[in-house]
Amino acid sequence: MVNIKLNNVSKIFKKGKTEFKALSNINLEIPDNSFFGILGASGAGKTTTMRIIAGLEAPTMGEVLFDKTVVSKDDRTIIDPEERDIGMVFQNWALYPHMNNYENIAFPLKVKKWNQNEITKRVYELADILGIREVLAKRPGEISGGQQQRVAVARALAKNPKFLLLDEPFSNLDANARDDARALVKKVKNELGITTIIVSHDPADIFALAEKVAVISRGNLVQLGTPKDLYDYPSNERVAGTLGDINIVDFDLKEKNGYYDLIFENFIITGIKLNDYNDSKITLGIRPEDLIIEKSTEIDSNIETKYEGNTQKIGVFEADTVNYNQGSFSVVLNISGTKIKGISREPIFYGDKVNVYINKSKIKLFEYASKDAIKLNEEIERN
Ligand SMILES: Nc1ncnc2c1ncn2[C@@H]1O[C@H](COP(=O)(O)OP(=O)(O)O)[C@@H](O)[C@H]1O
Ligand SMILES: [Mg+2]
Repeated sequence: MVNIKLNNVSKIFKKGKTEFKALSNINLEIPDNSFFGILGASGAGKTTTMRIIAGLEAPTMGEVLFDKTVVSKDDRTIIDPEERDIGMVFQNWALYPHMNNYENIAFPLKVKKWNQNEITKRVYELADILGIREVLAKRPGEISGGQQQRVAVARALAKNPKFLLLDEPFSNLDANARDDARALVKKVKNELGITTIIVSHDPADIFALAEKVAVISRGNLVQLGTPKDLYDYPSNERVAGTLGDINIVDFDLKEKNGYYDLIFENFIITGIKLNDYNDSKITLGIRPEDLIIEKSTEIDSNIETKYEGNTQKIGVFEADTVNYNQGSFSVVLNISGTKIKGISREPIFYGDKVNVYINKSKIKLFEYASKDAIKLNEEIERN
């Protein structure tokens, strides 16, 4: 078992005279036996981080430690990839098409010169854990995507590595197969007790698997925490969007007895407490599930709010587009050209009048100029 540490890792790719900084001063610690996630948009530097951990690239500056051993440092690879005891699964799985699945899983063991009996025993053991015994005689091209993915995981685990790196391992699967694959990876990880890192652009992978997540953006580590922490308390607007769907709208501020009204056209949120905020505009983030949409009737359209606690009625609006999505209807309001998305539990139709409620305890506020988070939601008080 290994604790992985990145100290001030930077990576610069040089092409002729041009330099590109793919990673800047990354500090990370991945605890032994944890399931760790790295989330970021395409091009953020996720694969580069993985390759540096695996030893396929050296950090231009900084060092990588496995426990107390420095494995790479300042453009030097000190411990070679083969000696690092890592299993890797790549996005495209990289299975050998001319070998059958048994041979694919056995391949790293053959390279290591295991004897035939040990190899057979190990391949069958893994095939049972991953439920792929019946496809061992087939080639990768003759089995489903989900099965190929399991073969790739089995091959990565063959040598009994100290940790497992998964680089966007599910992105070639359709939605159903992806859910199964996530569940299986979690089961395998728990059974084997192996430190596992998953990198993905898809927050669904992170929420399903990672205990802790690092968000990277343009080569910078922007936030580290549990997936729930980052979802609820993103450190800036970009992290908020990386973790999931969110409405981002700039509001005008109007002070009233020490509290503020946030005003965007006829979408007005009242009673927000702000300390030391000096701009006249503020950027608000609200996730669609925190904007409750209900069909408005004559009777209830005058009721201020029927929700307890911090949920405030914004007003009556007209539904623009509506999409059905896994048990809920996402309703888009078009407010002077700005689209704001909320969630309804019942079908709503284009043009319907709807009541809109906002869960104020879930509001995220960002500085208008910098888009950095300006306060924790607990501090938002009701008028
Ligand atoms: N070998 C390389 N040479 C030059 N640029 C590279 C190389 N590998 C990656 N990059 C660049 O570094 C950035 C990060 O790449 P990568 O780590 O693959 O991102 P991600 O996996 O998050 O999509 C990208 O802009 C990519 O083009
Ligand atoms: Mg990548």
